Amino acid sequence: MKEEFLDRKLQERTAAGALRVLRIADNRADYYSNDYLGISRNGLIEASHPNTQFAHGSTGSRLLAGNYPMIEETEKEIATFHDAEAALIFNSGYDANFGLLSCVAGKGDMILYDKLSHASLRDGIRQSFADSLSFAHNDLGDLEKKLKNKKGNCFVVTESVFSMDGDMAPLAEMVSLCRQFKVHLIVDEAHATGFIGERGAGLVHDLGFQNECFARIHTFGKALGCHGAVILGSQTLRNYLINFCRPFIYSTAIPPVSVAAIKASYKIFPALNRERDQIRHLISLFGCDGFKKSVTPIQCFVIPGNDNVKRISRQLLENNLDVRPILYPTVPLGEERLRITLHSYNTVEETEKLISILTSGSVMVDG
Ligand SMILES: Cc1ncc(COP(=O)(O)O)c(C=O)c1O
Repeated sequence: MKEEFLDRKLQERTAAGALRVLRIADNRADYYSNDYLGISRNGLIEASHPNTQFAHGSTGSRLLAGNYPMIEETEKEIATFHDAEAALIFNSGYDANFGLLSCVAGKGDMILYDKLSHASLRDGIRQSFADSLSFAHNDLGDLEKKLKNKKGNCFVVTESVFSMDGDMAPLAEMVSLCRQFKVHLIVDEAHATGFIGERGAGLVHDLGFQNECFARIHTFGKALGCHGAVILGSQTLRNYLINFCRPFIYSTAIPPVSVAAIKASYKIFPALNRERDQIRHLISLFGCDGFKKSVTPIQCFVIPGNDNVKRISRQLLENNLDVRPILYPTVPLGEERLRITLHSYNTVEETEKLISILTSGSVMVDG
């Protein structure tokens, strides 16, 4: 079979030092997974319902064979926990974001989104018939300027904790702009879920803005140690998504085995205060030169150049510290970085060692 056209693209990637390859993790210190609270690593979900079996197949889409009592019950529990009117579970955060953004705005409407929004949000926006414009990252002035030219039904999209930088959106100010311009706010809480707020309910809930948001997206694959996601909003939004959101309509529903895990995680993570405290303690060790400012479990050390950042990641591996390099084109050129994720099971000693290696000048950066 002739596949030169694929090879050519792969060779271009290789030449740019940006070829993506899959790796199996070993037992080096984990500074790369999103299992912030250790729920997956420590088997907390399995321990919470031993000897219980749930079906691995949901046997159809939610609108056909794939709806069942436990999924609706779990949606109600999740909505109550986050103080939302309604909840709709999706197979993944990617599906939830893509589905929501692609169907909620139509021709003549507008979507304004933070420039650093996750690919799943941007892909959904690209699929939408609405006009779209990005605003500079966390830049309220730029957002306001663009809001002045809003048209139709207008949506503002942001993440509460940014996945690649670990910084937070200025939500209070954004809420007030959205109120002033009468536009809808959509917040992706993927990396805030489980960590931000007294019981990990997210930044929107922590600040009391539940009723100011048109939609919130919480994912289960990160701090919750499971898989899947939920969109929170009004009952009307839920009904709309059931009718118009294509990844929801045309995909086999998430199976009972996964929903049972999500349900269990919601019984576990709100009480993991010791784990959240340990992460906060680790965060307090950062803040020195070279790291981006962040008060979340995502810390970044920018090392421009794909080859440079990959080499330093390898140097850390030799020191038993597994930190993954984030390469261009996932982040803008010159913004390549080590993305360090902190967990309740990382120790102070290994974290200090990591910081010391990166800041002592013992790592070799070309150019
Ligand atoms: C901010 C953000 N939103 C959405 C997603 C997608 O979530 P999922 O992994 O559940 O598809 C991710 C995952 O990387 C993310 O970082």
